[in-house]
Amino acid sequence: MEKLVIEGGHALKGEVRVSGSKNAALPVLAATLLTDDECVLRNIPRLRDTMTMVKLLRSLGKTIDIGKDSVTVSKGPSNHVAEYKLVSTMRGSFCVLGPLLAKLGKAKVSLPGGCVIGIRPVDLHIKGIKALGAKIDFDSGYVVASAHRLKGNHMYLGGGFGSSVLATANVMMAATLADGETIIESAACEPEIEDLANFLMAMGAKIKGKGTPQIAVQGVKKLHGANFRISSDRIEAGTFILLAAALRSNITIRETNFMHLLALLDKLEEAGMRFEKEYNLIRLKCSRHLKPTSITTFPYPGFPTDLQAQFMALMAMTPGVSVITDKVYPDRFIHIAELNRMGASIRREGSNAIVEGVKTLHGAPVMASDLRASSALIIAGLAAKGKTEIHRIYHLERGYENLDEKLATMGAKIYREKE
Ligand code: EPU
Repeated sequence: MEKLVIEGGHALKGEVRVSGSKNAALPVLAATLLTDDECVLRNIPRLRDTMTMVKLLRSLGKTIDIGKDSVTVSKGPSNHVAEYKLVSTMRGSFCVLGPLLAKLGKAKVSLPGGCVIGIRPVDLHIKGIKALGAKIDFDSGYVVASAHRLKGNHMYLGGGFGSSVLATANVMMAATLADGETIIESAACEPEIEDLANFLMAMGAKIKGKGTPQIAVQGVKKLHGANFRISSDRIEAGTFILLAAALRSNITIRETNFMHLLALLDKLEEAGMRFEKEYNLIRLKCSRHLKPTSITTFPYPGFPTDLQAQFMALMAMTPGVSVITDKVYPDRFIHIAELNRMGASIRREGSNAIVEGVKTLHGAPVMASDLRASSALIIAGLAAKGKTEIHRIYHLERGYENLDEKLATMGAKIYREKE
């Protein structure tokens, strides 16, 4: 096992290119189950999570060739069972349920279980798939779904925490091969759902309303293969922006769509940052002094929960009081204790974190608890005085492609050591 060692206090310079989106790549890979034809996918990030999805698709009978610039998926699915050992390591795997069921008429998919960011139920996935006429049973930790042919329906898919990204993905994929029209109300509006809809349409699906809370899918008999390029990762881009803000570094972020980051940019402008935004790039104009700024996370286009921990790291070193509230995952606060080990002053009150920003954080040995908490600790470590060691960095490899290498090319002092 490896740990990351960081020497804090070195400004960044230059530019960085953002990789393809993990959370767009996972459902797009799953959508290839809807056809026997060949699909060629570009800009798939090489990550532990995308490789887990590749393993899962192979276990379902797909043939996958990983080339230098593309991933080619061919053959139809021949097995309908998504095993516990793959689904339990990554919740994103659960979105094979909809396409498997639509293509084979049956699917047996392990329930994913909770994780450190919260309980994360799948009731909305099940509700949506049932609304399409599937019979659902639960058997020894698996969801067993069957339907001779799915039937379109008009459904409400909102839950207690708003829309669900992967439930929308699951139902939208299943509906592409259903009889008649499906209308999903309170659908997720995330750019990753738009990417998925674009891929499905390239495969011959009929979808209207992508990127809005009402998605209409007119079922077709068959989908065909397609070539598709995954959009860039807005969370990776946002992580670089927050990192550069913490180091007051005027870097340029390339291969990014600023329209997907408006909630973050708006909050950072409130804090005193300025940006030059062009097609495909963002240039940072950092202010020496930032103002404490409060955020509340919401489904898109609100402030993303996947940038909450990184924003907290920035506020932890911004003198004054800010309040951070997570309305998507109210328990996603495990990073507080680790940031406090580095000299931050943050306390949790229910689904709020009260951050009393300090002038400087100090390097310390810390433990990464999940993917986004890991990048929050990297932000804190790069800006802190002294040396930080981050343990359990395998979380980072799930979702950031070559993050430490990208940072090192901009001048960060960050390297890997054996534990
Ligand atoms: N929820 C339910 N019932 C459900 C599904 C979700 O109550 O059936 C709740 C969740 O517990 C949560 C809220 O609805 O409170 C939103 O969850 P959502 O279903 O949208 O999350 P997800 O689709 O499972 C994706 C991303 C997450 C990201 C969330 C929210 C992927 C593979 N994962 O998860 O990404 O945090 O949307 O934007 O797309 C990450 O990349 O670090 C990550 C955790």
